[in-house]
Amino acid sequence: MFDQAAGLRKRVNGIKNSRVIAVASGKGGVGKTNVAVNLGLALRKRNLRVLLIDADLGTANIDVLLGLTPNFHLGHFLSGERELNEIIIDGPGGLNILPGTSGLEEFLDISRRQVERLRFLSFQLESSYDIILVDISAGVHSNNINFISICDEVIVVLVPEPTAIMDAYSLVKILHNHQYSGKINLLINQLNSRQEGKGILERMSKVIRDYLGIQAEIVGYIPFDNHLRQAVKKQKALLDLYPGSKAGQAFDEVAEVLVNKQAENTVDRDNDKEGFINRLLNLFK
Ligand SMILES: Nc1ncnc2c1ncn2[C@@H]1O[C@H](COP(=O)(O)OP(=O)(O)OP(=O)(O)O)[C@@H](O)[C@H]1O
Ligand SMILES: [Mg+2]
Repeated sequence: MFDQAAGLRKRVNGIKNSRVIAVASGKGGVGKTNVAVNLGLALRKRNLRVLLIDADLGTANIDVLLGLTPNFHLGHFLSGERELNEIIIDGPGGLNILPGTSGLEEFLDISRRQVERLRFLSFQLESSYDIILVDISAGVHSNNINFISICDEVIVVLVPEPTAIMDAYSLVKILHNHQYSGKINLLINQLNSRQEGKGILERMSKVIRDYLGIQAEIVGYIPFDNHLRQAVKKQKALLDLYPGSKAGQAFDEVAEVLVNKQAENTVDRDNDKEGFINRLLNLFK
């Protein structure tokens, strides 16, 4: 396990250290925050250094899901009131969490001085973590598209319902229209049968290929599982409370797929040496 993590860090060294993955969806309530948290924990088990960034401006935040009460957020860092180590909080299983909320609203109207702080922030994060998972608000609002665009890849989460399927496709299409060049991954949640999920994702990936001319990777199938609901009610992560549950095992499989894909492809934007930091700063130009 350790060797795998060390190998991954070594491989990406010299290009950039972190792999930044947005967790997004067209439709709300499909399970993004739970995917970000539990995938984060599954990656931690593989000895990877994982940071979750809460970029969801809505109400269902990572800290609420995990029963944490952060005192500070990104806004305090950007204004210079607090340093990074005062903002990042410890979650279960060695997960680190960067609370976003109101800080991210300021993010959209940022001063020159704050851009300098942001440059420093990105640099520190990129050198401290192997994987950064960004929990994005649902929908195709331009803020969301901007956030997704600065990440190396996106996991589009959907559930087996026509509205969620259509909205997931719209999100991919809009990303494509915005010249998004990162990798697109598809994950289906709340499944009653894996077979159903397989049919939906294979069709979706074919439609994306045929109509948009781009490749979308299928990264996982998460069953509907009452253990997850129980965990949410107790404000704990599923993988913390019920690691052996069906959904828990499925999150482990997704982590395995993501890590193996990394091994096969190294960093997908190898020719894009500017990395996350500069893409982030370009948002403010
Ligand atoms: N695999 C699952 N099995 C059972 N219930 C689930 C599963 N995934 C999600 N849920 C239910 O869906 C709810 C919403 O999940 P979550 O908050 O992760 O969605 P979200 O996409 O982040 O929502 P939002 O768009 O509001 O941010 C959970 O509280 C849980 O009740
Ligand atoms: Mg959420």
